[in-house]
Amino acid sequence: MTATLKIVGLGGSLARVSRSRAALRLALEGAASAGAETTLLDLRELDLPMYDPDHEEPTVAAELLIESCYGADGMLWSSPMYQGTISGAFKNALDWLHLLGGREPPFLHDKVIGLISAAGGTQGLQAINTMEFATRALRAWDVPYVVPVSTAARVFDEDGAVHDASVKLQLETLGGEVVRVAQRFAADGSLHRATECEEAAERVAAAA
Ligand SMILES: Cc1cc2nc3c(=O)[nH]c(=O)nc-3n(C[C@H](O)[C@H](O)[C@H](O)COP(=O)(O)O)c2cc1C
Repeated sequence: MTATLKIVGLGGSLARVSRSRAALRLALEGAASAGAETTLLDLRELDLPMYDPDHEEPTVAAELLIESCYGADGMLWSSPMYQGTISGAFKNALDWLHLLGGREPPFLHDKVIGLISAAGGTQGLQAINTMEFATRALRAWDVPYVVPVSTAARVFDEDGAVHDASVKLQLETLGGEVVRVAQRFAADGSLHRATECEEAAERVAAAA
């Protein structure tokens, strides 16, 4: 690996005490241990406005979100489980990424994403599956290994300290896994080319 990979963590709830944020921090630590430069985009701190297609001019916070995500080699997403799926705040952050549709390459093209959820109960995989739909829409690749944290209030205390060694290992492993796969993408010089989509469009036009 020549350049240090950038891994951006996106998530947490808007709550002061957030287990999805604590889980995200651990996964980022795993990515850092694997040699990546890491950044946390904490949704509580970002305080994003609601994405409105009629008023798309990004605020400073939205700009930070959009540019950080676009500049990342890989990401870790961590949503709380709300009503059987991802939180509205997390989905709103993803909606802001719609502004990346006009870039070359567009959206989160060829970025590697690791998925985490924190749930009160045991159905955290539902939030993970919802996030997986979004990775596809945003042209990213999610790693097959995922970490749905069940009964999250027992796993993380109010200070964010983890009390389950196996969940800690799972989260750190996920961070390392995102770095491992992102390295593969980064090593392929033919990816991330500005002309890539243009060439694809030409091929489609020629086939029509
Ligand atoms: C609005 C709301 C909806 C929730 N819905 C669910 C749910 O459907 N299933 C579940 O297991 N836990 C549910 N919970 C519990 C949260 O998933 C749990 O408290 C989790 O730790 C929240 O993430 P956070 O700690 O990052 O804030 C809900 C909590 C809230 C506040």
